[in-house]
Amino acid sequence: MTVPTPHVSLRGATSADVPQIAELHFASWRAAYRGIVPDAFLSGITIESRIVRWRHAVSPRDSPLTETIVADMNGTILGVCSFGPQRIPEAADVGEIYALHVRPESWRQGLGQLLLDEALRRLATRDCARSVLWVLRDNANARRFYEARGWTFTGEEFVEDRGGYAIPETRYAITLDLSGDSGVVVRDTAHGCDVDPERGVEPAAE
Ligand SMILES: CC(C)(COP(=O)(O)OP(=O)(O)OC[C@H]1O[C@@H](n2cnc3c(N)ncnc32)[C@H](O)[C@@H]1OP(=O)(O)O)[C@@H](O)C(=O)NCCC(=O)NCCS
Repeated sequence: MTVPTPHVSLRGATSADVPQIAELHFASWRAAYRGIVPDAFLSGITIESRIVRWRHAVSPRDSPLTETIVADMNGTILGVCSFGPQRIPEAADVGEIYALHVRPESWRQGLGQLLLDEALRRLATRDCARSVLWVLRDNANARRFYEARGWTFTGEEFVEDRGGYAIPETRYAITLDLSGDSGVVVRDTAHGCDVDPERGVEPAAE
């Protein structure tokens, strides 16, 4: 892995970052999800809809428990990660990565790893003992990325109905080191999870 350029810094996102984040999220969806979600579904994703989603996520009033961090290179946002407590079922001591995206032209330069490690470090400081995430079942690149970072497939699958399109998702988990020394993440050996994917809830891998 190439070490990210020293000009990249990680920082919390602000509302001023929303247009750039939305644009990178849109580009990332187009590059990563074509062929693994129906074209018609992908065509329905717009930058405007991403702006609405990210305005909500970075607003402390709307999303008080959500944190969003960005990888910023001299004012250009190259990657974004949002995270917070597990949503379903709600659990303050279990973290969840809600979204992780890197600009397609910056893939495989270490930015995803940088953002994910920082998100997990911040979740550990919230006393989260483990973290989960949902990833599209057929998103082989992202699954390989998470597996390379020590995440384990829990065996859970959920077919989400997104505007009439059935999108299968899978859940991954990792145990966090709460020692506070390093935020180092240790490999999860415990499969299984207390979420019932049949409850009709929306895990929303983004
Ligand atoms: C998945 C994603 C966040 C990874 O970010 P990235 O910056 O490209 O990944 P990194 O450079 O930090 O990769 C770190 C390590 O993870 C592994 N990895 C990353 N991508 C991989 C891939 N496609 N296949 C296999 N291993 C991979 C490798 O071990 C890599 O180290 P290496 O490059 O030295 O081999 C990025 O590709 C992305 O934004 N994809 C589209 C959106 C997406 O799918 N997000 C996940 C939603 S749940």
